[in-house]
Amino acid sequence: MSNQCIVLVGMMGAGKSTVGKALAKHLSWEFTDTDHLIEHQTGVSIPVIFEIEGEAGFRRRESTALASFVGKERQVIATGGGIVLAEENRALLKQIGSVVYLSASATELYQRTRLDKNRPLLQGPNPRKKIEELLANRLPLYKECADVVVETGRQPVYQIVNKISLAL
Ligand code: S3P
Repeated sequence: MSNQCIVLVGMMGAGKSTVGKALAKHLSWEFTDTDHLIEHQTGVSIPVIFEIEGEAGFRRRESTALASFVGKERQVIATGGGIVLAEENRALLKQIGSVVYLSASATELYQRTRLDKNRPLLQGPNPRKKIEELLANRLPLYKECADVVVETGRQPVYQIVNKISLAL
């Protein structure tokens, strides 16, 4: 495995932060989450950024946060689910390192996110349908970026970490 970073992409609820932390620990690398980086830089939560600057404002911040990892080494980076939407970001992902897509079904994603109030895109009247729509739109983009696809399903985190380590 090279010293380049490992970037985790996938939908909200795919387990990017949980798996990312465990993978970083396993490799003795640093772990960062682009959403946390943005919250740290602005001093406010993601829902507040959406409220004040709209999704477009958040996406600009997300691209800047991602670009800050170009040239870094030995970091596991968990990204927000929408990172693959911008073509600019998809090019950045490839420059930053190996891209791992954590895949999960709409049902699993809904189960894992349904009680969470921290995701502005899922606060509408039908979050289940919203997840299906987002997944359908984004799936080709996740696949386009990914060097490795790992199905998360009901597997324990350590198994997902082992699969990623073996695949890279
Ligand atoms: C988003 C996913 C969120 C966060 C924001 C938008 C998305 O991150 O970046 O709420 O568009 O899918 P997680 O994937 O970590 O929940």
